Amino acid sequence: MPKIANDLETFLTQHQSRIEEELFDFLRIPSVSAQPAHNADTRAAAEWVKRSLEQAGLAATIHETPGHPVVVGEWRGAGSRAPTVLVYGHYDVQPAEPLDLWTSPPFEPQVRDGRIYARGSVDDKGQLFLHIKALEAHLQTRSILPCNVVVIAEGEEEVGSENLEAFVERERKLLAANAVVISDSSMFAEGMPSILSSLRGLSYFQIDVQGPSGDLHSGMYGGAVVNPATALARIIASMHDENGHVAIEGFYDDVSPFPDKVIAGMRELPHTDAQFAREIGVTSLGGEKGFTTLEKLWTRPTCEVNGMLSGYTGDGAKTVLPAKAMAKVSCRLVPNQDPAKIARLFEAHVKKFTPDGVTVKVSYVHGGRPWRADLSGPIFDAARRALHAAFGRDPVIVGEGGSIPVVGDFQRILDAPVLLVGFGLPGENAHAPDEWMSVENFRVGTKAMAALWDEYAGKGAS
Ligand code: BES
Ligand code: MN
Ligand code: MN
Repeated sequence: MPKIANDLETFLTQHQSRIEEELFDFLRIPSVSAQPAHNADTRAAAEWVKRSLEQAGLAATIHETPGHPVVVGEWRGAGSRAPTVLVYGHYDVQPAEPLDLWTSPPFEPQVRDGRIYARGSVDDKGQLFLHIKALEAHLQTRSILPCNVVVIAEGEEEVGSENLEAFVERERKLLAANAVVISDSSMFAEGMPSILSSLRGLSYFQIDVQGPSGDLHSGMYGGAVVNPATALARIIASMHDENGHVAIEGFYDDVSPFPDKVIAGMRELPHTDAQFAREIGVTSLGGEKGFTTLEKLWTRPTCEVNGMLSGYTGDGAKTVLPAKAMAKVSCRLVPNQDPAKIARLFEAHVKKFTPDGVTVKVSYVHGGRPWRADLSGPIFDAARRALHAAFGRDPVIVGEGGSIPVVGDFQRILDAPVLLVGFGLPGENAHAPDEWMSVENFRVGTKAMAALWDEYAGKGAS
């Protein structure tokens, strides 16, 4: 039975309250990457991470990009013959709106019922920070780590990581690693440590439909003019067939089926549709016919409306024929779909279904490639042992429907396997009001990631 080394365990237990105070400081910085009003806060968070890395015992630098900066921490004391691991996380957070739905303010962290409530607690400040503290445990107790470690923290993940691919290309020497470790995901259930075997990719669009040059009286003009809201509704309705398949021509051409073993593994996981539906407050589930819910979420591409806007939406009635209509639509992608190719197919589809009488513009907002792990090699073996040591049981292998754009880039540019091991929990409200991270998972996750370094170097306790 793998065990966490005593010195690390003792350090993390003794310093628990200081560590949690520090996390709260980090969570108080409103580093909302999407909102220019928070640019100074986002930079302050980068500087906070730099200081935190230095306090842990790493050398840290801030790198400018056309957007928010990248922070890099390095500890290379294990020498050039020892392996190097790259740890990635993001210090930016999603907007906190709507503020009135938060029980306590989003940037004033509060513990209730064993949960740390704050924007970014689980996505991803808490999970980035637990890695920094795991490294600190090694460096403060032993003055040494069993391998070289580079930490990279970005501030643009929640806005599509648009500058990160170029940064990784440019700094491939600095970032060169034998493996990449990321905690920016969730466990399948409480007490069930989880390793991710896949992420979906993304292509995100805005559709603008323009009709008459201004809003019109719906009685004087309605019936003789193409209504942009109706046109947009028909465009959107054309995107799926009656079985829930995406009806965009060529959409599935590059989809490569998941290995049978992975699908079989998904069927073993404890899941019931009834409970899942209850948790999210719907009367029944939907989607593509012929797939289980977990397959739909983890192995199938989608096309979803994220938002729509047109015409009069205020109190009462206003008889108006709107001049324009807008929708945000995104496709989640699976291996080996390419976000740029999907963008071409998507635009062609929209054009084909746009009636005469209105004009349409499709803008590509951002995207990221899908990713699939092969889950073999020393970093995965080390993770299994470290998670067993911390949680007392073997991890389960899960898929994921969300996206982390840089993961595919790391694998491709650095040619290194990526271990995704997350400590969130179902219902954590990532991106929503009342986001939380379990205090217990934060503590146990930190210990697990401290144990990871010993296990990776073959020096784990048992
Ligand atoms: N941490 C999430 C991705 C994620 C979500 C992983 C759930 C595992 C479980 C990440 O911060 C995120 O929100 N990604 C965005 C990417 C987009 C903005 C390009 C997403 O998936 O919507
Ligand atoms: Mn995240
Ligand atoms: Mn996120």
